[in-house]
Amino acid sequence: MQAGKDRGNRASGIFVSFEGIDGSGKSTQARALADTLRRAGHEIVLTREPGGADGAEAIRRLLVEGDPDRWSPETEILLFNAARRDHLERTIQPALDAGRIVISDRFADSTRVYQGAARASLRPLVDQLHALVIGLEPDLTFVIDMDPGDALARGLARRSGEDRFEDLGLGFQQRLRAGFLELAAAEPDRMRVIDGARAMAEVSTGIAAQMQRWMAARAA
Ligand code: ADP
Ligand code: TYD
Repeated sequence: MQAGKDRGNRASGIFVSFEGIDGSGKSTQARALADTLRRAGHEIVLTREPGGADGAEAIRRLLVEGDPDRWSPETEILLFNAARRDHLERTIQPALDAGRIVISDRFADSTRVYQGAARASLRPLVDQLHALVIGLEPDLTFVIDMDPGDALARGLARRSGEDRFEDLGLGFQQRLRAGFLELAAAEPDRMRVIDGARAMAEVSTGIAAQMQRWMAARAA
């Protein structure tokens, strides 16, 4: 597989991503959308980043465990891209080529925001690497937005041993929230902001309705 623009042809598959700060409900909502679409008869591949393929999951462990200063910011960006390339080659692209709906819990917007917005000077490196080795954007991205204090409380209640990023604290989460909202404002066609502070079922009903509208518009 080559990099970049030659991957524009994705057969009839649809690529959906979920983004947002830690604990905002992305995994919950990605699962709920997958269930709803499966019940409607669609073939779904539910996946996540960092991870989503064997090699990418091995890289995930290097990224999410251990000391926050384990990697330099540049090395960290390279590791996220290495994981994403493996995920793309082994999981995402084959599923899109087979006409499936791929739902990914995080994708490249997370790198733009976590690695790019957290250290603004690194955003050009993030964008250049993405163009060189990934080159694919989701068709539709749901940004689950909510107050970082509430989201952090949810996330920390979960304590999974994968807290290298969550340990960075509330101020960092506030910058991340602003980063996701800024990206979404710049790309309103692809990125839909969803109020994640509501009850789970209310959030998932809203997402399913938007997804249905998007699919109907594409089919028209
Ligand atoms: P993320 O993937 O964004 O980190 P999760 O989906 O894992 O978030 O949710 C984090 C925690 O919050 C989980 O314990 C989950 O059950 C809970 N949760 C998710 N959505 C809601 C909601 N709308 N209201 C209350 N709790 C929620
Ligand atoms: P994830 O498992 O989605 O965490 P959570 O469920 O708590 O949201 O992602 C692990 C961490 O990796 C999370 O804090 C976000 C971070 N991350 C980046 O910093 N850059 C990236 O490109 C990705 C995909 C994730």
